[in-house]
Amino acid sequence: MGVGIIGIGHYAPDNIVTNADLEKIVDTTDEWIRTRTGIEERRIAKDDEDSSDMALIAAEKALKSAGKTAEEIDLILVATVTPDKSFPSVACMIQDRLGATNAAAMDLAAACAGFMYGVITGQQFIEAGAYKNVLVVGVDKLSKITDWTDRNTCVLLGDGAGAAVLSSVSEGNGILSFELGASGKGGPHLLQKDDGFLYMNGREVFKFAVRQMPESCMNVVEKAGLKKEDVDFLVPHQANIRIMEAARQRIGIDEDKMATTIKYYGNNSSASIPIALSQSIEDGKIKDGDVVVLVGFGGGLTWGAVALRWGK
Ligand code: COA
Repeated sequence: MGVGIIGIGHYAPDNIVTNADLEKIVDTTDEWIRTRTGIEERRIAKDDEDSSDMALIAAEKALKSAGKTAEEIDLILVATVTPDKSFPSVACMIQDRLGATNAAAMDLAAACAGFMYGVITGQQFIEAGAYKNVLVVGVDKLSKITDWTDRNTCVLLGDGAGAAVLSSVSEGNGILSFELGASGKGGPHLLQKDDGFLYMNGREVFKFAVRQMPESCMNVVEKAGLKKEDVDFLVPHQANIRIMEAARQRIGIDEDKMATTIKYYGNNSSASIPIALSQSIEDGKIKDGDVVVLVGFGGGLTWGAVALRWGK
């Protein structure tokens, strides 16, 4: 038996903030944002909509798509760097609201690579035989730590949640290989400052990401005993279309074989990969038997990639 994703769902707030809206609050242009990042609009949560509210909706959708009840979930892992509070965790909050009374629950923080860390942590519990069903959620409300006067960061970010249910799947399907990594030395390039706001050294993060994303993609492909020609679909972290392109070109697949939700959502941090994956499933871009590579990087610095064969 393998371990795979048997259900997935996502949620983004209704409130759309366009590049034109941002032109009114910082010194930027729609043209600059589109050409440098690929972003045209992003979703921003209302003041009374916190990470747990978004996580709950994505989790409910994932459970429905997996055909599992909340009581069947053994463990809830929520990847987030913007929990409602430091405790109780978002995982405990949604455990209660879902009625997942049999589940252990905890948050984990690996910024934009958080969902990859969550999936691999969940996989280990299932492979070890400890748990049957693990709910992994990636959620962030970056808008609450965004400095809306800083054009270097505020144009890039958006809010949202994505969730997946992990369970055992038939031999040959599911997770084929993974890579997780961290470089704490790079921490100062992307962090939450003492004033609470997000700070980013865009150039340094860009340099790191254009090297790491393609390398991690190739590493998981090789670890899975595959060739890059075997990859059917790529789901990269949606931080910048130019970084995503570097990964796509290294794998050597067509543009329509890469998830690109960045245009509509911007960078959703921990939620970015599950939103992009869920949207791709919804759009019918991934079919059973496809080899899919998920790859992300983020503050920490952290990175993670997974090669999997889609299907139960
Ligand atoms: N509008 C207009 N100009 C802007 C701007 C904006 N929103 N943001 C920055 N600029 C300016 C900068 O101030 C700089 O001006 P200067 O040369 O006078 O200092 C200029 O644009 C060019 O900056 P540069 O860093 O060379 O631009 P870039 O083409 O590398 O793009 C980023 C900047 C942030 C888009 C890019 O570096 C990036 O995507 N970095 C990685 C970000 C990332 O992935 N973060 C998430 C990690 S999970």
